[in-house]
Amino acid sequence: MKDQYLLKKNMIFLNHGSFGACPKSVFNNYQHWQRLIESQPVQYFSHDIYNYLKKSREDLSTFISCDSDDIIFIPNPTTAINSIIRSLKIDKNYEVLTSNHEYGAMIRAWDWFSKDKGYSLIQNNLKLPFTTKNNFVDDFWQEVTNNTKIIFISHITSPTAIIFPIKEICQRAKNEGIMTIIDGAHAPGHIDLHISDLDPDIYIGACHKWLSAPKGSSFMYVKKEIQNSIDPLIVSWGKDVDPSPSSFINENQYQGTRDFSSFLSVSTAINFQKNNNWDIVQAKCKDLTKQTLISLQEILKTDLLCPVNDNWLAQMASIHIPVNDSSKIKNTLLINHKIEIPIFQWDNKNMLRFSFNAYNDKSDSNALIDAIKDIFFKGD
Ligand SMILES: Cc1ncc(COP(=O)(O)O)c(C=O)c1O
Repeated sequence: MKDQYLLKKNMIFLNHGSFGACPKSVFNNYQHWQRLIESQPVQYFSHDIYNYLKKSREDLSTFISCDSDDIIFIPNPTTAINSIIRSLKIDKNYEVLTSNHEYGAMIRAWDWFSKDKGYSLIQNNLKLPFTTKNNFVDDFWQEVTNNTKIIFISHITSPTAIIFPIKEICQRAKNEGIMTIIDGAHAPGHIDLHISDLDPDIYIGACHKWLSAPKGSSFMYVKKEIQNSIDPLIVSWGKDVDPSPSSFINENQYQGTRDFSSFLSVSTAINFQKNNNWDIVQAKCKDLTKQTLISLQEILKTDLLCPVNDNWLAQMASIHIPVNDSSKIKNTLLINHKIEIPIFQWDNKNMLRFSFNAYNDKSDSNALIDAIKDIFFKGD
């Protein structure tokens, strides 16, 4: 399917996890929306945009199983978390519990606001390797105290590429009166996502990653009961111009003259997956992920982070790569082997993370494995 994407032909792209890759047809739709603005800007911004956004919210909410009035589009998860932390009343003695597998910028935001608001950010260093969901939740709960009022945790982690048992965490937190804020940047279009089934208080998702919508398309789900506690990051016309049914939507949705095209292309991105037998694509990519991980582990002989099965991994995986100079190996892979892949520090180790999507196949996995063999055995 590589022809259906805009990716360079001479590169092996194994980093969908960081910035995704948008199919040509979805990108064309994005440009269609941009042209529409320029064809009649007043009609677009004064009238039509609210219906377009409503339709897009409806399509997305069907795809992720929630009420379309409980989500708003936002450009990215970073914006969402800033909006959330700024808004929430978090007392000085509250603890926000998270893990050591979270995305750096999100933790930075929590840390930043803690200085002003005074809450404590507790990062649980979870025991590895993960074994079962129950053990995971028990280990995570070791750091829950009477002051834990918020849990912030990823659905699929960025540095370690692991699917966390979010449903179990949300249930247990609900029973104990703890608010859950889930960082689902990697989930939509990657794994089946049923927000109503997970039942979080707040769920942040990116559409520009695994759903392959254009960059700048993400969403924030907020449970009805707490929608009034989320203030707009940018205060604009709100209900004075936006006919949407709740202040959650009309305060957060229209924030001045902005390009909404990426939000409006989300329906096309969803249809792209539907029209291309995504179940089969996902199954193929998952299989490739597992096989690649097993092969890399045989070469690198480092410990795996979790069992190699569907509970823990989907279309990407990370492995500890025992090198001192990570930039050298990254350059070798990029320049000599034409492989775009992230290598970064996590838990004082160098990690390599590979992602597979529709445009990848076995030859890409083989190229990575051969390149790693060359580097480790031939000193390439
Ligand atoms: C788990 C996770 N959360 C949040 C983000 C931030 O996404 P963005 O840069 O689109 O705001 C990322 C980005 O890769 C991520 O992987």
